[in-house]
Amino acid sequence: MDKTSKTLSLFHLLDTLSSTVIMCSMSRTVLPGVRVPYGIRPAIASDRGAIQYLLNHSWRVYLPAGFQWLEQRLTAGDCWVMVEGRREVAGVVAVLRRHPEVVSIVGAAVRNGMPVALYVEMTLATLELYGRRQRACGLTCLGSASWLSETLSAQGFRACEHVITYGWQARPISVTGNTTVTVEPVRYHELEAVAAIDRQIFAPVWHKPYDELEFALGRADYFVVAKHEQRIVGYCWSEWSETRGHLTRLGVVEDWQGKGVGTRLLTEALNAMVQFGITWVTLNTQVSNWPARRLYERHGFRNLGQAVPLLWKDLRATSPNPDASVSLG
Ligand SMILES: CC(C)(COP(=O)(O)OP(=O)(O)OC[C@H]1O[C@@H](n2cnc3c(N)ncnc32)[C@H](O)[C@@H]1OP(=O)(O)O)[C@@H](O)C(=O)NCCC(=O)NCCS
Repeated sequence: MDKTSKTLSLFHLLDTLSSTVIMCSMSRTVLPGVRVPYGIRPAIASDRGAIQYLLNHSWRVYLPAGFQWLEQRLTAGDCWVMVEGRREVAGVVAVLRRHPEVVSIVGAAVRNGMPVALYVEMTLATLELYGRRQRACGLTCLGSASWLSETLSAQGFRACEHVITYGWQARPISVTGNTTVTVEPVRYHELEAVAAIDRQIFAPVWHKPYDELEFALGRADYFVVAKHEQRIVGYCWSEWSETRGHLTRLGVVEDWQGKGVGTRLLTEALNAMVQFGITWVTLNTQVSNWPARRLYERHGFRNLGQAVPLLWKDLRATSPNPDASVSLG
């Protein structure tokens, strides 16, 4: 059996281990007559060390939410590695299924010296097939890492929205806004309701699926809900690290918007952060989200002037058979 055949049979073995296995393989000529086989396969637990090594040594890393989120995707089975030859990990990519409709790239890295275009071409073939199998209508990726976003743009990704960052120099702040609601720590069994609100008020490209909320709950420093007569009408979650805080999520159900609940949740969160000793708070929102931007600016948040595009590729335009495995080269 030659090397390529062995690689493919390894992939065949892995295929039987995962219900969502999607693979592709390709060869690259490095010297005349010498072809190095590359393949993409689902990451498995024993890849963790190689992935960590790659992330620590590669110059091309995209991890907008940190390593722990990539690890979570690895555990969830939504992570693939690009292997060179039979085993060496040359790249990694992880996605989040935001909703049946959208698959977002939430982690990526490629080994130094590896052509980015080849890595993107191969991982995209895998992700597009995966997305179609999930009946997703599109793939997204935040354009915060230029090495990745430039190559994705060349592969048909387009900016569909821009995300901006606001910063707030912490100072004592009074709690204001709607006083008819109570604000209390979320309980585990309430997460389903929070996920349902999230689906209602955010566009699919921004949804936080239940498993991400559950993961966030395990790590959040602050996660509260606003309730009116036992009904959850809003929620707010933030993460703190020493003197820095990040307000990750703020949302109010549609029929309660414009009644001061967002103001209440925001000022409660900022007040808690100040009490804790946080001195600098950041948050992100969409450029077009004027209700949110007005709320933040009214409370002294300053636009830090970075606008990061959200890249989108429509999967509905062309749809090869989603039940076939990809085999290139
Ligand atoms: C952005 C969002 C959280 C704001 O929440 P909200 O509850 O509607 O916010 P508020 O009611 O406190 O403020 C909204 C308006 O109501 C007014 N308001 C009405 N009653 C109020 C009260 N009792 N106290 C304070 N403000 C009140 C505010 O002055 C404000 O007016 P403005 O938009 O003209 O400045 C909410 O619109 C939302 O969930 N949107 C969808 C999700 C989202 O985009 N989240 C933010 C992403 S970063």
